[in-house]
Parts: sequence; C-alpha cells; structure tokens
Amino acid sequence: MVLGPIHIAIDGYSSTGKSTLAKALAKELGYLYIDSGAMYRAVTWYLIQHHIAIDQIEEVLDDIRVDFDQLQRICLNGEVVEKEIRQMEVSEKVSEVAKVAAVRKKLVEQQQGFNQSVVMDGRDIGTVVFPSAQLKLFMTASPEVRVQRRYKELQQQLSSITLEQVRANLQMRDYEDEHREVDPLKMASDAVVLDNSNLSQEEQLQWVLRLLQEKLNITV
Ligand code: CDP
Repeated sequence: MVLGPIHIAIDGYSSTGKSTLAKALAKELGYLYIDSGAMYRAVTWYLIQHHIAIDQIEEVLDDIRVDFDQLQRICLNGEVVEKEIRQMEVSEKVSEVAKVAAVRKKLVEQQQGFNQSVVMDGRDIGTVVFPSAQLKLFMTASPEVRVQRRYKELQQQLSSITLEQVRANLQMRDYEDEHREVDPLKMASDAVVLDNSNLSQEEQLQWVLRLLQEKLNITV
C-alpha cells in the first residue's frame, strides 16, 4: 500500500513514445498527466513570437505564464498553443532554450508544485523534478524507429517535411539534451529501461501496468 501522491517519472530520448505512454497510463490510473516538454516548447514559442534572443530570456521570463487547461492542453499566457509548439521551428530552438538555468528553475519549480498523483514525462523527471518518484522509467527505441514515428506525426501537419530533416533534429536534440550543463538527460540509477522498438502502444501500457503491480502493488 502506497500512501500520499504517487509520482511516475518517464524520461528518455526524443520520439521514444514517452508522451503516448504517459498519457495512456495517467488515464488508466486516474492521475494527472504533465508533458514537461510542452512547457519548454511553450517558452520557446513565446520567444519566437516576440523575436526575443536566447540571451535575453531572463529579462522576459516573468512575462511568460505556462500552464495546462482542464483538458490538459498547454497554454501560454492563457491561450492554447498545442499546435504551435509542435512546429519544426520550435523543435529547432527548444533544446537551446532548455539549456538556460533560469528557464529550468522556473519550470522545475512549477512541475514540483503539482501536489497530486501524476505521470510526468521529460528528460530530468526521475533525476531532478521527482528524484523520489515511486516509479521511474527510461524509454528508448532504435534510432530508425524513432525517426519514422516522428516523421509520420509531422507529415500530417507539414507534407513538405523530409525524413532527413526529422533525423537531423532528433540527433541534434539528443546531443544537446545529453550534453547540457544543467540537468542533462541521463538515466536515474533506479530507473527501469523500456525499449519499445518492437512493442505496440497497448503492449507497452500492459508492460508498465504489470510493473506497477509488481513494484508498488498498484492495480487498475
Ligand atoms: O519531441 P519530444 O516529444 O521527444 O520532446 P519534448 O518532450 O516535447 O521536449 C522538447 C525539448 O524540451 C527536449 O528536446 C528538451 O530539450 C527539452 N526538455 C527538457 O529539457 N527537459 C524536460 N523535462 C522536457 C523537455
């Protein structure tokens, strides 16, 4: 029996299906779902829209309010920006923005403030945001599977996007995320690895539900 809010941390490389799994898991368990990457993307979208250079972020940080509405859609200063933040333009800048210590401090504090059971996905959830999370997963998949997944997703919005563009963006972000100074992407020592290269969405969900039952005696 686990008392108090349950924190489930899902970290890993880009396009490994973290959000898909986190969303499904939160739904099954009736927990809150927080896409921490969407928060970094929303800050990035603000900078793009207002033509603000990365070295000026700190001056405008107090003007940026990022949160989620009742439907768990990401909002920037009160406006839903789900679609805008997935644009390639944002993907190209977000890892630079996520390097800035002041940005991380602001968003990490906000993430730690969700005072209820939550499934949160990102890069530093098990290491920095919730180091005592009751369950930590580290997701990975083969590079080609990841590129194909993201390519399919993006092509629905922008048919001119190429496989090469997607591949270059994923490689760049993986490198930047792993090598930044503040809170880099790394696996928590007590995380369980989930390689979903050959798993369907339903299979990976069932895998995690079994793990939850074994580790925490939580059943749905
Ligand atoms: O594209 P994908 O869904 O894999 O990435 P995301 O979760 O939307 O995150 C976008 C970017 O935000 C990442 O590439 C990181 O640079 C940054 N990020 C971070 O630094 N820390 C987090 N907890 C989540 C995302």
